[in-house]
Amino acid sequence: MSAVSPYAIPIELTNKSRLGEIDLNHVPFGKFFGDHMFVAEYKDGAWHVKGISPFKNVSMSYSISAIHYGQSIFEGMKAYKNSKGEVFLFRPEMNARRMNIGAKRMAMPEVPEELFIEALKTLVWIDREWIPASEDGSLYIRPFLFATDEAIGVRPSSTYQFVIFTSPVGKYYNEPLNVLIETNYFRAVKGGVGYVKASGNYGRSLYPTCLAQEKGYHQVIWTDSETHQYVEESGTMNLMFVLDGKIITPAISDTILSGITRDSIITIARSWNIPVEERKISITEVLEGIEKGTLTEAFGCGTAATIAPIKRIGYQNKDYHISSDYGENSIALKLDRYLKQLRKGLIPDPFGWVHKINP
Ligand SMILES: Cc1ncc(COP(=O)(O)O)c(C=O)c1O
Repeated sequence: MSAVSPYAIPIELTNKSRLGEIDLNHVPFGKFFGDHMFVAEYKDGAWHVKGISPFKNVSMSYSISAIHYGQSIFEGMKAYKNSKGEVFLFRPEMNARRMNIGAKRMAMPEVPEELFIEALKTLVWIDREWIPASEDGSLYIRPFLFATDEAIGVRPSSTYQFVIFTSPVGKYYNEPLNVLIETNYFRAVKGGVGYVKASGNYGRSLYPTCLAQEKGYHQVIWTDSETHQYVEESGTMNLMFVLDGKIITPAISDTILSGITRDSIITIARSWNIPVEERKISITEVLEGIEKGTLTEAFGCGTAATIAPIKRIGYQNKDYHISSDYGENSIALKLDRYLKQLRKGLIPDPFGWVHKINP
């Protein structure tokens, strides 16, 4: 993050904060939005910063191309506050880079990393009172980029908006997960856009997820679309298994999102001398591991869900129960606690991941 920014961000503050209307420490996930938002517009081949203003609705034509042709990508990240009132971002440059990988794949203009970070820091600092300081609380940040050409016709838009708004959140899942291995519907295909946060990836996941929820599962585990034999991701989480004392996780490919939480966990675990394997993992390997007792933990990981232990895995009308209680001795809990403290600046940061936001 550079100290001097070439981007002058005009700021219009609200004259009436909505903060008093909610109890920050008991908020449903993603239902309330911070007082302010950031907007930049892309036209004539360049970005134009509109600035930070009170969060508001927008008036747009029904013809904008994001709605019809899906040129729309987003990011998800969080700001954290500790009891001293210090405010932190966690590896924000990774989100900026990932969004630009998505922009390239979706034929959209990249957002300069410096603009992304500067806008983020300024917005979060202005709305810092919105960050819950509770143990599981944080301010979810939603940067997104969408096409705004008012035209029918399948071609890249020539105009876009890059917007950031925030939402105070607590825990995403309040209990260990039951997940269903899905082999009929696919989230991502080889050569497709599974590795980017394209909005359509999430839209297409909803129907199979609803079917799984009707059967009593929280989420599906997606499998590869070519052989249907390998596990890939679950919901908005990457997957990790503890097998024979090692962490194994599906290797990143063009059908798997390169999660920042995943990358952080791999780095932390290796620094603790826990072996980590990034490779293909078959359904058979997972289920046999559970049956033999060699697969001792499974969890999803992501910014929203943090670390979400998995208790039960369904496959072809049979349920497989993972024996771990995810208590003191579990790797999942140790990682979760460590990450929580790291993100709030409560322990030394040997990785240089935590960015304190100063006034
Ligand atoms: C499909 C998918 N996989 C994995 C993740 C986890 O990524 P991260 O740890 O960067 O939040 C997310 C969330 O962004 C996601 O949407």
